[in-house]
Amino acid sequence: MAQSDESVLNYDKLTYAGNLNNLTSLRNDERHLFVQGDICDGEKLAALFAEHQPRAILHFAAESHVDRSIHGPAAFVTTNVNGTFTLLEAARAYWNTLDADKKAAFRFLHVSTDEVYGTLSAEDPPFTETTAYAPNSPYSASKAASDHLVRAYHHTYGMPVLTTNCSNNYGAYHFPEKLIPLIITNARAGKDLPVYGDGQQVRDWLYVTDHCAAIRRVLESGRVGETYNVGGWNEQTNLSVVHTICDLLDELQAKPTGSYRDQIKHITDRPGHDRRYAIDARKIERELGWKPAETFETGLRKTVEWYLANDAWVAQVQSGDYMKWVDLQYSNKEQA
Ligand code: TYD
Repeated sequence: MAQSDESVLNYDKLTYAGNLNNLTSLRNDERHLFVQGDICDGEKLAALFAEHQPRAILHFAAESHVDRSIHGPAAFVTTNVNGTFTLLEAARAYWNTLDADKKAAFRFLHVSTDEVYGTLSAEDPPFTETTAYAPNSPYSASKAASDHLVRAYHHTYGMPVLTTNCSNNYGAYHFPEKLIPLIITNARAGKDLPVYGDGQQVRDWLYVTDHCAAIRRVLESGRVGETYNVGGWNEQTNLSVVHTICDLLDELQAKPTGSYRDQIKHITDRPGHDRRYAIDARKIERELGWKPAETFETGLRKTVEWYLANDAWVAQVQSGDYMKWVDLQYSNKEQA
């Protein structure tokens, strides 16, 4: 909202990871409207599109946590596959009501993941936009299915769609089920820092505001029907990420004795755990002039500082439902 004068309608189901407190800074901004709803509710979507006449739809809505998709894949198929289909159908019906100019200017931007490409070995080149899809988890399979539907709506109906496939995001307001916020919040609470298996799995970390800038660039200037990989040029092993967080906490909020590294515990690996993700983000740089502004050092420091300054937010999201998840996922896990 800080980047433009356009109004934004924010549509969100507010499931366990959604939180209206994340929108506090927009509370008095007349350009922002929040509506609670489900992307599986086609009637509600149709009514909102008719009333608000959007020039673009940015589709971020998804179940996104791999470990949850292992315990309960149904919600991933419902939201990511059926939900994307319902949203596409509502968008297509609305798009067909527009005059020729507005029809050509309309955009449906689908935000997806690098996980659709499967896993890399240490020697493989990073994923490009032409890497074959090979999803390995129920989560990535559901996102792959949604990507295919979006692609089909361009090829079959001519809808002006764009798809972005990003690497692992991190930054402020990140729900503490994902690695980086989980490690920060567990470290501060004096709990174990759970590292799956040997911790040598590699992810390519992308600071969230860099991701937002990339999405804006693709929306403004991306070629319709194309996909763009968005990554941080920043491959790290999980163990190295955990070490860096511990070292930052040792510096910013030292414990009376010892290091936060003492809390690290290697536990049973995730089933089907993808070994390495890495994004080749040269297409978006070449065509649209985007590249990340943050390094991992600057981005991670900002992230740790944000969590240190926002205890109330952390306490609020660690509600009963969160504790149930932590119990399901981490209690009775073998030491690896
Ligand atoms: P995650 O944040 O769940 O993202 P993704 O699985 O989509 O990449 O996990 C990032 C990496 O960290 C992944 O390799 C799994 C690992 N991990 C742990 O080692 N311990 C944890 O408690 C979690 C949540 C993740």
